Amino acid sequence: MFLTKEEEKIYNGEYGEILETCMNLLVSLGDIYGAEKLIPISSAQVSGVSYKTIGEKGLEFLKDMSNSNIKVSVPTTLNPAGMDLDKYVELGFPKEFAKKQLEVIECFKKMSIEIGCTCTPYLSGNVPIFGSHISWAESSAVSYANSIIGARTNREGGPSALASAILGKTPYYGYHLDENRIPTHIIEVDAEITKLSDYGALGSIVGKIVKNGVPYFKFKKLDIDDVSSYKSYKLKGLGASLAASGGVALYHVENITPEAKIVMGKIEESNYKEIEKITITDDDIKNEYESLNSAECPDLICIGCPHCSLEEITEVVDFILKNNLNKNNRFKCDLWICTSIHIKSIADRMGYTDIIENAGGKIVCDTCMVVAPVEDMGYKNIATNSGKAAKYLPNFCNSNVIYGDTIDILKKGI
Ligand code: F3S
Repeated sequence: MFLTKEEEKIYNGEYGEILETCMNLLVSLGDIYGAEKLIPISSAQVSGVSYKTIGEKGLEFLKDMSNSNIKVSVPTTLNPAGMDLDKYVELGFPKEFAKKQLEVIECFKKMSIEIGCTCTPYLSGNVPIFGSHISWAESSAVSYANSIIGARTNREGGPSALASAILGKTPYYGYHLDENRIPTHIIEVDAEITKLSDYGALGSIVGKIVKNGVPYFKFKKLDIDDVSSYKSYKLKGLGASLAASGGVALYHVENITPEAKIVMGKIEESNYKEIEKITITDDDIKNEYESLNSAECPDLICIGCPHCSLEEITEVVDFILKNNLNKNNRFKCDLWICTSIHIKSIADRMGYTDIIENAGGKIVCDTCMVVAPVEDMGYKNIATNSGKAAKYLPNFCNSNVIYGDTIDILKKGI
């Protein structure tokens, strides 16, 4: 891989061991994937934040990095941690876990990384522009950035995103290149897809089929208003599910996503006929719902995977008001609405947090049902409206899953 003189100096350790390690990591990745050079990035998003996922070894690594006084060189945000950084005592997070988690956060803070821990950085200020190169690690955020925004990132791991954040560069390969953004599969959706959980089920099916391919969706019936603007959370759910059940980092939706027209033009020039076509029917969706469900009664209802937008919180508030839930008539099981501290501050001002808390629910920031130690907090049956969470909960948290749309799972709690 070509390196500039300055990059060579870093590679050879002339600026110290930490920068050398970072450069070695990026060059190794570049060599493996055939990158010709490094390119500048406009932002980074780093995963490997929950103490549950990184453990003691990860914490030691971060302590070594942060003690060297190294700082990130581009705007960098963090993925969810293992607990709400403000309300961890009130929510009953284990004491020892909380202590370790705070140490992890301190390391990132020392490196000048913004500690608003969220998997939806694009709703909280880390918003790349179309065509910009970034280095993001959270798979659902990667999918959103590539697909809905048209920015360019590979599915980075925690260490490579951190190395990129520090050096401000990433190897030029994969989804940074035009040729890897061309669809590999055409998905004809001949099913009624309206609710968020329908999109999750669709993503779950298609991810398994295309693995790390690039699906191009053609919906037979799609209300554009239902997935655009504020309601793009439905596509956020689709992307998260695609990334969790397969390794999808980029998808296109006809007439919706910014590169759909461009990439389709490129296919027609070459060999549209040879691209694999898959049809998804109502029966496929129904079967996927069944396969994602493994329980009936939740002890925790969890909404916000990926982290909730204000629109999704509003839907919960409307449900609470409509069903007269309040201090005297509360949810019969725990309810977590997972979001970022940024979105929660607006929910506070709107009065939504009070309404949810009066009904017995909690707006939980900085974490989620997958990366929090929910299995150690006594939760066994978790209701979710997220295809990604439904996929991960059995393995990561040893939980049974009740999968359904927002209103359906909220009804299970009253
Ligand atoms: Fe975000 Fe946790 Fe889901 S990190 S995408 S809410 S598994």
